[in-house]
Amino acid sequence: MTTSPYEHHEYDVLIIGAGGAGLRAAIEAKQRGLSVALVTKSLLGKAHTVMAEGGMAAAMGNVWSEDNWKVHFRDTMRGGKMLNNYRMAELHAKEAPDRVYELEQWGALFDRTKDGKILQRDFGGHRYARLAHVGDRTGLELIRTLQQKVVSMGTDVYMECKVLRLVHDADGRVAGCVAYWRPTGEFVTFAAKAIILATGGVGKTWKFTSNSWESTGDGHALALWAGAQLIDMECIQFHPTGMVWPLSVRGLLVTEGVRGDGGVLRNSEGERFMFRYVPDMFRAETAESEEEGDRWYEDHNAGRRPPELLPRDEVARAINTEVKAGRGSPHGGVYLDIATRRSAEYIQRRLPSMYHQFMELAGVDITREAMEIGPTCHYIMGGVKVDADTAATSVPGLFAAGEVAGGMHGANRLGGNSLSDLVVFGRRAGMGAAEYIEGGQVATDFNLAEAEAAIAEALAPFENTGGESPYDVHRDLQEMMQTNVGIIRTGSEIADAITQLETFTQRVKNLSVPGGRAYNPGWNLATDLPSMITVAKCTARGAIERKESRGGHTRDDYPKADPEYGTINFAHSMSGGRWDGEITTERSPLLVMPPELATLMEEGN
Ligand code: FUM
Repeated sequence: MTTSPYEHHEYDVLIIGAGGAGLRAAIEAKQRGLSVALVTKSLLGKAHTVMAEGGMAAAMGNVWSEDNWKVHFRDTMRGGKMLNNYRMAELHAKEAPDRVYELEQWGALFDRTKDGKILQRDFGGHRYARLAHVGDRTGLELIRTLQQKVVSMGTDVYMECKVLRLVHDADGRVAGCVAYWRPTGEFVTFAAKAIILATGGVGKTWKFTSNSWESTGDGHALALWAGAQLIDMECIQFHPTGMVWPLSVRGLLVTEGVRGDGGVLRNSEGERFMFRYVPDMFRAETAESEEEGDRWYEDHNAGRRPPELLPRDEVARAINTEVKAGRGSPHGGVYLDIATRRSAEYIQRRLPSMYHQFMELAGVDITREAMEIGPTCHYIMGGVKVDADTAATSVPGLFAAGEVAGGMHGANRLGGNSLSDLVVFGRRAGMGAAEYIEGGQVATDFNLAEAEAAIAEALAPFENTGGESPYDVHRDLQEMMQTNVGIIRTGSEIADAITQLETFTQRVKNLSVPGGRAYNPGWNLATDLPSMITVAKCTARGAIERKESRGGHTRDDYPKADPEYGTINFAHSMSGGRWDGEITTERSPLLVMPPELATLMEEGN
């Protein structure tokens, strides 16, 4: 039993984050008879999961019977530029179909083929049409389904509750966490035998992002501060298609489903420029003419995939180059055209949210006009280093799943692989936590001093007068990261970012927040900033170390992939438990793929 002077709760498993991974982990742990709670700083049903609009990749072979887990595994590894944890990619490819069928059993209403199977759509980097989907609202359906299940099982859910710090026991095992209620500002402690981080991503550290306010890297930072390692933090995904206009919605996602369903990219000269940007790695499987690409939509064995369906990193870089060369659209993007390629009825049926989004926000009818789009920070491939099978981190009692975990996607994630990642590894994290608890070596005490230190740090902006506004610091941080560690990077700019991040650390220590603790968004942001700075430091450190270009890490000064870096991750650790502590970065060798999987990387196997 823990004595805490604050509101206090105790569970077997505490899950931080209530997106797809957190919800699936909760179901698993509940089914194993454990007491489970979900903590979210947002509301149940609201998570970046909904921004995976176009679908969930799983080799079910409903549209192309040739598809199977081996092809999905190969596509994922090649899309990740071979930096993936192969075991995660293997488990993901093998288990994703069962997770789709399970969602169907729990009530998800997927679109259907003519003969009643779950329909699958095309997405970039996938050899076959593989994404189970619900129009362009798949993430929403996934959340809705899992949430119903979680609630029906009687799981406790703590909403609008922001976790500040993980707490250990005297032996260094994770023992719980300290948090505060956003509506009241009152503090609360949770003791748990196991904690699963499922907090999603970090997009709010960049200026143009598809992520909403929750994505501030909380779980990444909590893990690092607690003693776990972060890997691949330099690998950031800029989704090729975000809205660029109006400015108020810049970055908002335009689903890859538009291209999957036949949409094409054009520059200001009307040219389908992607044909000029096909890398050697994908040349053999990419169409060389518009006619060949169109044939492919009809029959995947009669033509090759159009270049708009190259992996996201390739498409985002190409768009960036076109804009820089002066061939962009009036608001600094390029054109995404489905109006001239598909009927209005087809567009409205397949892409209802996109139709609505452009009509309402930009006054653009996508059944008649092209959309203006450009890259937007969408996803971080990097995250907490975990064991593939159990989702365990190096800190006893701490697990991580979904976007906050690293390794699965290597240097670049294929679209659609996120929703399947969430449920495959959410389930595995629930299993891993249950097995850890069954092992009996769980935390026995709760280091209240760690909780008290985090509370004192959180309250400091109220005691500091004349300091800076958190909004100013956040705006400058986003601007700086977008400029210096954005889609294309160079050594001198990254070095400048590293220096500036030390200044940002001091600025965060000198924040002032007026008002009280109840419903104070300025204070809430002040408590998010340490996570964002921590994430930014790891991204910048990984970026300076990786002297090559690979996936979501492009260096102007090292434009090619270098085999020397193809076998290592950069792993970041921190000691001392303070958010502003020293970060150590080291090379960490990738797992070596066994021969039976390595042969799958050759076409035809
Ligand atoms: O474009 C999209 O619908 C996003 C999907 C994803 O990130 O997996």
